[in-house]
Amino acid sequence: EQNHPTDLDSLRAFIGDCKRCKLSQGRTHLVFGEGSPSARLVFVGEGPGAEEDAAGRPFVGEAGKLLTKIIESGMGLKREDVYICNVVKCRPPHNRDPEAEEVQTCLPFLEQQIRVIKPEVICTLGRIAAQSLLGREFKITQERGNWFSFMGTQLMATFHPAYILRNPSREHQLKGL
Ligand code: URA
Repeated sequence: EQNHPTDLDSLRAFIGDCKRCKLSQGRTHLVFGEGSPSARLVFVGEGPGAEEDAAGRPFVGEAGKLLTKIIESGMGLKREDVYICNVVKCRPPHNRDPEAEEVQTCLPFLEQQIRVIKPEVICTLGRIAAQSLLGREFKITQERGNWFSFMGTQLMATFHPAYILRNPSREHQLKGL
């Protein structure tokens, strides 16, 4: 489609003080995303939590601290060299799952972020993010670690870091991170 913002700042300006869905009513900040506009790897979470809503930045709470450790200590990358965003840009009340209509309203903005960044790989965090991008039910325990495609970009789904925090196990190998 034409006339879509071709850089991230223009896209953020286009989204503006968004009231396209009801999540706008409960938010403090719209959490657009952050990181390198030329990132080779984009992480996509489900939606901002309380700390992200307060800060206006993605993955800054406890789950975010673990994600940062995974990126930096685990993968040997820098957080600022990847890009981190969410399916919905505004916090769902009480951290409920975003509704289908909210996902459909916000998804074009994620699609445009991906068109602009052109990453090599998308990593979705948790079941909801995988379902939202793949447009179908997703079994995270069974299907994580496999390659899928989103808009022609390779996509792999993994557990949400909040799930890892709730379910620490030897298998998850968090020691040393
Ligand atoms: N959980 C998410 O899915 N996204 C965030 O930005 C923070 C926590």
